[in-house]
Amino acid sequence: MKLSCWALRASLLAGIEAVALASASARAGNSSYYNPVLPGWHSDPSCTQVDGTFYCVTSTFISFPGLPIYASRDLTNWKLVSHAWNRESQIPGASGNTTGQQQGMYAATLRHHDGLFYVICEYLGVGTSNLGVIFTSPDPFDEPAWSNPVTFSTNLIDPDLFWDDDGKAYVATQSVVLQEIDLKTGELSQPPISLWNGTGGVWPEGPHLYRKDGYYYLMIAEGGTETNHSITIARSRHLKGPYEAYEHNPILTNRGTDEYFQTVGHGDLFQDAAGNWWGMCLATRSGPAWEIYPMHA
Ligand SMILES: *[C@@H]1O[C@H](CO)[C@@H](O)[C@H](O)[C@H]1NC(C)=O
Ligand SMILES: *[C@@H]1O[C@H](CO)[C@@H](O)[C@H](O)[C@H]1NC(C)=O
Ligand SMILES: *[C@@H]1O[C@H](CO)[C@@H](O)[C@H](O)[C@H]1NC(C)=O
Ligand SMILES: *[C@@H]1O[C@H](CO)[C@@H](O)[C@H](O)[C@H]1NC(C)=O
Repeated sequence: MKLSCWALRASLLAGIEAVALASASARAGNSSYYNPVLPGWHSDPSCTQVDGTFYCVTSTFISFPGLPIYASRDLTNWKLVSHAWNRESQIPGASGNTTGQQQGMYAATLRHHDGLFYVICEYLGVGTSNLGVIFTSPDPFDEPAWSNPVTFSTNLIDPDLFWDDDGKAYVATQSVVLQEIDLKTGELSQPPISLWNGTGGVWPEGPHLYRKDGYYYLMIAEGGTETNHSITIARSRHLKGPYEAYEHNPILTNRGTDEYFQTVGHGDLFQDAAGNWWGMCLATRSGPAWEIYPMHA
């Protein structure tokens, strides 16, 4: 599966933005659209499709309300429909006690399973350990319908949520390690199982697991979130590995280029209703000089 950025025509705002990527099969139709599809501050997008509607969540760090849910029918026009974290009582004492700019809600994963939407995330800034949170909702268009979270304790960020064929739920996190999770209690299996360390870039993180054609695919971000950012992938016949790296990794990066979009990485894959695969990832409109133009028009 080789992803490539295309139709990277810029519009107005700069920042950490979500950029859509088309798979080769979808590209065959030669429709065109403008990137970024979610301009402004939209890092670490995670997306899914249910009944023809696409949904994405992005990181919000110390902002409250947090974990915005965007919905779209066409992947290019997106509407903010709710926040998974929308009331103080969901995590009492959290937002008011969180002051560090590098704290808050980190890199969520959005999934749909057995009629429920799940947002799993890592909250930094409560107590000595990070707080894992899992919000659920039957209807992401109804903000109060997001549950109070089931919580779990871990110091690893960027949790993925994946159900195996036997119905067991698993959380993969940075580094990249795997733990089974009890979604009712938040209990994690110990010790974490090391799945893959990536291809040598710093900070293997942002993992997502997919099941396709008898394989488990493990897609991660590595190389750091600056200009070396990239997406790499590996696969295995067994959930717990061993994982074999794709020989042409990275499958996505603008590292070492003079592209206007830099820091391309940390993405998620999902299928449209016709079965085409799509990707969404973050990018920064900084240019190769890696200068910051926050929200610059
Ligand atoms: C898509 O564009 C390519 C390159 O311009 C062209 O070769 C191809 O015929 C086009 N495909 C369709 C379905 O229009
Ligand atoms: C901070 O946390 C403490 C202990 O949980 C709580 O009593 C307090 O209300 C919180 N403060 C704010 C401003 O949220
Ligand atoms: C990843 O690196 C750690 C630390 O060196 C090592 O313990 C682990 O076995 C490695 N994992 C894999 C899957 O190679
Ligand atoms: C990117 O990687 C190169 C080669 O390892 C390194 O020299 C450079 O410092 C890295 N840049 C950043 C921004 O991490």
